[in-house]
Amino acid sequence: MNLPDLKKARIRTDKEVEYVYLDEHYQKLFAGQKYFLKTYGCQMNVHDSEEIAARLESLGFSKTDVLEEADIVILNTCAIRENAHDKLYGFLGRCKHLKKEKKDLIIGICGCMAQEENVVKEIMNKHQYIDIVFGTHNIYKLQDLIINKKEKQNIEVYSCEGDVYENISYKRDSKIKAWVNIQYGCDKFCTYCIVPYTRGKQRSRKSKEIIKEVEDLVKNGYKEVTLLGQNVNAYGKELKDEINFANLLEKVANTGIERIRFVTSHPWDFTDEMIEIIAKYDNIMPYIHLPLQSGSSRILKLMGRRYTKEEYLTLYHKIKETIPNVAITTDIIVGFPNETEEDFKETLEVVNACQFDSAFTFIYSPREGTPAAKIDDKIPMAVKEERLHKLNELINSYSLKANQKYLDKTVKVLIEGVSEKDSTKVFGYTETMKLVNVENASDKIGEIIDVKITDAKSFSLDGIYQ
Ligand code: SAH
Ligand code: SF4
Ligand code: F3S
Repeated sequence: MNLPDLKKARIRTDKEVEYVYLDEHYQKLFAGQKYFLKTYGCQMNVHDSEEIAARLESLGFSKTDVLEEADIVILNTCAIRENAHDKLYGFLGRCKHLKKEKKDLIIGICGCMAQEENVVKEIMNKHQYIDIVFGTHNIYKLQDLIINKKEKQNIEVYSCEGDVYENISYKRDSKIKAWVNIQYGCDKFCTYCIVPYTRGKQRSRKSKEIIKEVEDLVKNGYKEVTLLGQNVNAYGKELKDEINFANLLEKVANTGIERIRFVTSHPWDFTDEMIEIIAKYDNIMPYIHLPLQSGSSRILKLMGRRYTKEEYLTLYHKIKETIPNVAITTDIIVGFPNETEEDFKETLEVVNACQFDSAFTFIYSPREGTPAAKIDDKIPMAVKEERLHKLNELINSYSLKANQKYLDKTVKVLIEGVSEKDSTKVFGYTETMKLVNVENASDKIGEIIDVKITDAKSFSLDGIYQ
């Protein structure tokens, strides 16, 4: 096993932090023991889990996918919707049961729910079998928390955002594509959203650190990077001497990495300069996730999204006209408090006008502490469910239509691995982020190849390597 360099992993760009020095003695402490790591939520959490895995392996733990084999279980939680709570406690029930047989099992909770005060209080009051809790700003404390675990719960949460860490070690899930954080937190405070509270204010990494990370990835054979942030195109805005997102994209493009993606863009921060840069560089993928949230300007205002329906449409068409063959996907929330039938119709109108490649759709879920949760909502859940159903049907019809445009065409696909459903095939993604199951290419994993598309469904394509 390649142990991460612990000393290096603890250097911060701006300020030193207090740490317990982890030496070789600690690295052997948990040798032979196993960790089970479960990740809920968005790409941010997926990437944080890559850091958590590296930290666990630095102590000697090795990974298992079987809960019953684990000596430590870490649940990396999401707080975006209310049902996240039920999902977590459902799983915790299994862990609690396991701990009855395995007294030394360590159970840890982290991620966005661990930043919620009421959740932590509940854990302290009702769930004493949980040993450690750490928030999104405290991942660096993980080794300390495990080593210093006592009879009492070890809790390390809520501390303020602090500085940006550099030289973090990750145990990346893929050797082909990598997540690269460019920014942490979010300053937008959309009225329905809990993220600014769980992830803190926006903190951008220095561009030279980002470029260094991408250059290292290129050296290590990575083909694709996805620049990661809640609001990637607001990159650098809070730093005095930093470049903007368009300039950062250009610098990343010049590292020579074969594919660059980025999530998530906010329409309000989308500039003409960005559009031009994306169109100019072949290695910046023509794929943009551009959350709409609602097609009604009235609801958008209540959501605090800072754009109108018309402004979204203008931006959408500008992107479509300037970037050849671009694919655009979106997020939509139905049933925001007191959303009328008329508001919902406007959302459908925008979907018809944009014909998105695909969309994530959600029923609004009130999150305690956010402004929207205080609104007295008169719309019954059944109405919201019906709206979601109608919206999904429309979205799916456009996804199918968008995919059908690929029939008989030859496109570039980065092959990532063996298909889950059919082990004779491999899978990968087009430049526009379409999932393709490919015949005849079992020896092409990690390569970008030309694939002829033979079939199109709503959620994937089939193709053959020729
Ligand atoms: N920063 C990104 C994504 C944030 S979370 C952005 O602004 O687009 C991902 C998606 O979850 C959001 O785009 C939104 O559609 C959805 N979401 C966030 N809060 C929600 C809530 N309270 N109820 C339902 N959906 C929500
Ligand atoms: Fe949440 Fe809005 Fe920030 Fe996205 S931009 S994370 S929806 S507050
Ligand atoms: Fe969930 Fe936190 Fe991401 S709330 S969506 S894991 S930023």
